[in-house]
Formats: sequence, C-alpha cells, structure tokens
Amino acid sequence: MARDRFDLQAVVRPNIWALKPYRCARDDYSTGILLDANENSFGPALPLTHQSPITLPTDASYSDSHLERYPDPHQAEIKTSLASLRGLSSTSHFFLGVGSDESIDLVIRVFCQPGKDKILICPPTYGMYGVCAQVNDVEVVKVSLDVEGGRFQLQTELVKKALAADPSIKVVFICSPGNPTGTLINHDDIRTILNFEEYKGVVVVDEAYIDFCVTEAGQSPASTAKWVEEYPNLIVCQTLSKSFGLAGIRLGVSISSPQIAQIFNNTKAPYNISSPSSIIARSALSPSGISQMQSHVSRILSERSRLITSLKSLPSIGRILGGNDANFVLAEVLDKEGGKACNERAFGVYKELAEKLGVVVRYRGTELGCEGCLRITVGTEEENGRLLERLRGLLG
Ligand SMILES: Cc1ncc(COP(=O)(O)O)c(C=O)c1O
Repeated sequence: MARDRFDLQAVVRPNIWALKPYRCARDDYSTGILLDANENSFGPALPLTHQSPITLPTDASYSDSHLERYPDPHQAEIKTSLASLRGLSSTSHFFLGVGSDESIDLVIRVFCQPGKDKILICPPTYGMYGVCAQVNDVEVVKVSLDVEGGRFQLQTELVKKALAADPSIKVVFICSPGNPTGTLINHDDIRTILNFEEYKGVVVVDEAYIDFCVTEAGQSPASTAKWVEEYPNLIVCQTLSKSFGLAGIRLGVSISSPQIAQIFNNTKAPYNISSPSSIIARSALSPSGISQMQSHVSRILSERSRLITSLKSLPSIGRILGGNDANFVLAEVLDKEGGKACNERAFGVYKELAEKLGVVVRYRGTELGCEGCLRITVGTEEENGRLLERLRGLLG
C-alpha cells in the first residue's frame, strides 16, 4: 500500500526539503499600530469614492477593509469551508494558489530538479503541464490516453511500463475530467497508478471540472479528494474558476497529505491570495454561495444535454466525443461528403464563427484523437441558441 512505501523526502527536491520558510510580518502580529511591513498607512491610491472597490461582508476583518495592508498569509477560513465542502476533517490538507495553474507550477518546482527529472502526461490533456515543465527545464514523457472511439481513458499498463523504465519521472498528471476530453478517468485506473510499487513519485489528479460530475442529489462521488487521507503520494487540484464561476479571482486549491501541503505553503509567495480574492472566495464558499454554485451547475448540465442533442441534429456534425463530464463538449466537424472528421473544415468553421459571426469556440483538431474537433463551452440558453443557429447557417 502506498502509505508504507512512499518516502516523501526521497522525492522532494533537496533544496526545497531544506527550505527555511520566509516568516512574514503578519505571521507575528496582525493587530495594533502596524508599522512592521512597510505598508502605506495613508491608504490606497484610489478615488475617495472607491476606497473599498468591492462590497465588504458585515464581519469584514481588518485586512479585508484595509487594502493598504497585506492579506492574511494563511487563509484559514477558506480552508475550513473547503474542508467541509470536500469532506475532509482537517484544513492541514490544503494549499491555496493563484489558480490551479500555480499549483501545477508548484508541484513541478517542488518535485522536479531542472535538467534532471521528468513529468509524465497523458495526451490529449491540459496544455499547462507541458508549459510549466518547459519553463522549469523539466522533460515531459507522454503516454497517450486510449483515444479509440473517444474513450479517452488511461492506458495503465503503458503508464506503468514508462514509470518502471524511468525513475527520473517524479510527477504523473492525470486530468479527470480531462480537458479537452471532458471525460472522467476510471477510479480503478487512478488507484492502479497510485498503488504501483515501482513508482516512487507523486500522482496529481487535476479535478478542475469535478463539480460537473454530480448525481441527482448534487453529490460529487467522482472526486478523489478524500483519498488523500489514504494515499500520501496523491495531490488533487481543484479551482473556483469553473463550477463557482470565479475565474477572475484566481483561486486554486491543492489537496494532499498535510506534509505535502506544508511544503507547498513553505514554498509559495507569502501573500499569494489577495484580500479582494479572499473576500469573494469566502462568500462563494458560504452555504448560500455553494447553493448558487449547485444551481448553476444543474442549469449547465441541462443546457449541456440540450446542446448535445441539437449538435447531433446538425448536418456535418459527427460524433460528440468523450464522456461529457465537464462544462464543455467536444464535437466533430465532418467533411462536405459527411463521412470523415475534417480538420480543414473544422478550422474554417472555427475562424468563421469567431471572425464573422461573433461566437468563439476552441479548435482542437490537432490534439491526439480529436481530429476535426471543436471544443464548445456550454453557455447560457441564449448563447447556445445563437451558436447553434450560426452553426446551422454555416454547415447547412
Ligand atoms: C484541466 C484544467 N486544469 C486547470 C485549469 C486552470 O485553472 P485555474 O483557472 O484555476 O488556473 C484549467 C483551465 O482551463 C483546466 O482546464
């Protein structure tokens, strides 16, 4: 079992393991006449009518209502709400970052020595894993998903073979539900990688879209977040950018063993979550914020079904690939004869939609197993209606 054999120290970069974290002013004192952090006691340089550019909660803390002060470096309240939302008993499992993109970068910085270690990804997948690896001078090993018929599942035997062959792989990124595949990865396959004895590194499960995999009762049994209590080699990344509709505040979450979370918290910039982001995140994670999120998710899911049905009825739209477990769909555009998925036509449709018809989708035809595909985010009923009308005009 992973718990017995996982040696965290052996997999963390030695310089990070040895890091003595920066102790910031707010770690020591946060009340009184604060002359300890070289802030500006005269207040923010904002027009007097906008001294507080966002609506403050009635129980606003000092740093909430004083933007000239550095924010809380620990954000305990957000972590408490997240622990309760994700069914974890302790806030010690959490790291908060500037979007999931900060968690992805941090994972690579903490576990991979530049120019030496590697990550493993399973294309087609989210592009930032490769970008962050390149920025950090870390090589990328690719083991594609099984893309046959839009299955988009892990090829576990091939992943295991790659891991066994190369001990310099320190991180495996699994995107579930995947982007651009929209497909939840089988839990048994994730466990197979977590339990694989010959692999000494960590497994990241990127669950940016996990809240779109809900049951009728609004539960999300698809999340692996609670598994961090069982697997010390697991890191789950989530975000407020998707189901909570807060991409603008840049609030990402990583959930892991308390030891890994501590290392992430030691390594991050001290005040990475801004006060305005924190206020908005706390409001979104309140009971009424969560019920608003659930209501938006259920509307997105019913729009997703409607969009899929309508897309299928359009001429020259082929299969809708993948499991449709996220807030987007992956639709094939066929050639004029209506037989084969066609990149040239899909690209033309994408350009025409964006440049002449005012509807922007994502062309994904060059991704493995996504020949001729457009990735279409589920919009409002009106937005989807306009997309469908314009697609009908273009393809009909
Ligand atoms: C799979 C996946 N992970 C992470 C992200 C980035 O999320 P964030 O906005 O939290 O940085 C995205 C954004 O599209 C994504 O698709």
